[in-house]
Amino acid sequence: MTRCVCPGSFDPVTLGHLDIVRRARSLYDEVVVAVLVNPNKSGLFTPAERVALIEGEVGDLDGVSVLTFEAQLLVDVCRSTAAGAIVKGLRGETDYSYELPMAVMNRHLAGIETLFLPSDPEFAQVSSSLIKEVARYGGDVSRFVPPAVDEALTARFTTSG
Ligand code: PNS
Repeated sequence: MTRCVCPGSFDPVTLGHLDIVRRARSLYDEVVVAVLVNPNKSGLFTPAERVALIEGEVGDLDGVSVLTFEAQLLVDVCRSTAAGAIVKGLRGETDYSYELPMAVMNRHLAGIETLFLPSDPEFAQVSSSLIKEVARYGGDVSRFVPPAVDEALTARFTTSG
């Protein structure tokens, strides 16, 4: 049985993230989607909301589970879930510069390897922060997020401005 972790903030999940989770599942028997929450950063969606939005898309896939972790090292998440590798998407050079030091550090801390999957070019420019900024001011992000996330963004920005 092989198991990997797909970590991220997922605030909120995008079609780019979901593509990586599905592709990770084609490589591993089990995928733990780990919603990592930084307690010093206030997100748009609560950890429970992020988990529910991800579960709505991949929760029925065999071998995929979605869990949330607060204030923890990713290597400890890997240990507690008995995952043998970390899988992340790479959209381009900026991601590589951001991800490489973490991949090296995680290997140093726990001997755990990080596998990078090239993002589908369709989603190469999609990030949760950009999605939030565009949605906040009423822009159409429906091509880049699942319908449930689109609705959640609209509801959030309609009620809280
Ligand atoms: O979606 P993001 O913001 O790119 O995800 C980054 C995340 C949450 C995967 C990364 O910040 C992380 O691993 N945080 C957990 C804390 C940790 O282990 N930090 C040291 C990394 S070497």
